[in-house]
Amino acid sequence: MSQIEQLETEILAAIGKVDDLAALEQIRVLALGKKGSVSALMKGLGQLPPDERKSFGQQVNGVKQALNKALGDKKTALADKALAQRLATETADISLPVRIGPLAQGRIHPISQCMDEINEIFADMGFAIAEGPDIEDDFHNFTALNIPADHPARQEQDTFYFPKRADGSRLVLRTHTSPVQIRTMQAQKPPIRIIAPGRVYRCDSDQTHTPMFHQVEGLVIDSETHMGHLKWVLEEFLKAFFEVDEVQMRFRANHFPFTEPSMEVDIRYERSGNEVRIGTGDQWMEILGCGMVHPNVLKAVGYDPEQLQGFAFGVGIDRLSMLKYGMPDLRDFFAADLKWLRHYGFGVLDVPTLAGGLGA
Ligand code: PHE
Repeated sequence: MSQIEQLETEILAAIGKVDDLAALEQIRVLALGKKGSVSALMKGLGQLPPDERKSFGQQVNGVKQALNKALGDKKTALADKALAQRLATETADISLPVRIGPLAQGRIHPISQCMDEINEIFADMGFAIAEGPDIEDDFHNFTALNIPADHPARQEQDTFYFPKRADGSRLVLRTHTSPVQIRTMQAQKPPIRIIAPGRVYRCDSDQTHTPMFHQVEGLVIDSETHMGHLKWVLEEFLKAFFEVDEVQMRFRANHFPFTEPSMEVDIRYERSGNEVRIGTGDQWMEILGCGMVHPNVLKAVGYDPEQLQGFAFGVGIDRLSMLKYGMPDLRDFFAADLKWLRHYGFGVLDVPTLAGGLGA
């Protein structure tokens, strides 16, 4: 047996016997490290006659490969063994009941619950969820939405303005979720299908208005989108949200600068005592604004209104949840009253799903 073969046999035998990773690494260094025994063989290459150098070099490389393979295999085997040992000591009985502790006392606010429900319904229809900042600039909140500088919606009694900046412009607390339409169209290529739930702010406070409230915006942009699609989406949404087989909607012509035509939608309901029933009765409740996206809005984000069109809607979430869960006074929502929250809130682990029932 040549010296090389003997060295190989010895090292392979050592690898075979070793049974921890540190010792394996030590063998690797002693053999293949810079100062290792196999590397040392190469140093003798220069002293050989030229016609023997090639085959000697090949032989040493062959040994290196064989050793590397043996080292790798052994490393995997040792790692598998270590894992198996660890798993054997770390057993968990998943049939034991969950001890949720403080989680059982926490409550999800009805608004958060409704937002989760809304997200779930629209996700099922193929909508993505978009977000934008609560502090907006004039362009996104107004100008790009076809609300010119002298429009009444900009007047101070509605909008919370920040102090003037050096360039004279003023940031605002967004007055609706519609600026997310603009941000989404600027950031994405059509077709677009998004909803944008979030907080909005208006300088207004009485029994039915709070200075901060919640909306969910919807936006669909495609080459062929019409009001039939809008109506279907709203109807499917409302049926799923109120968990009823049928809803009746009333579309009333209205005006929004960013849609044309624009409509407000009422749904039929009735109240008996504290209970609200959706879909029957002789009363109507306004719940959302909607319409076909105005060509000026499409132009503001660089879209060609000849090629693209779409619809948008904005729904008041607070009002929807009052209707669904029978909470009579909007101001209670933000009063941080623990008794109220214990009564109307939701269990932390009751995540709404369409399959499992939304408001279970
Ligand atoms: N942004 C409108 C509002 O706050 C609602 C709306 C959204 C209307 C989208 C039409 C289209 O009242």
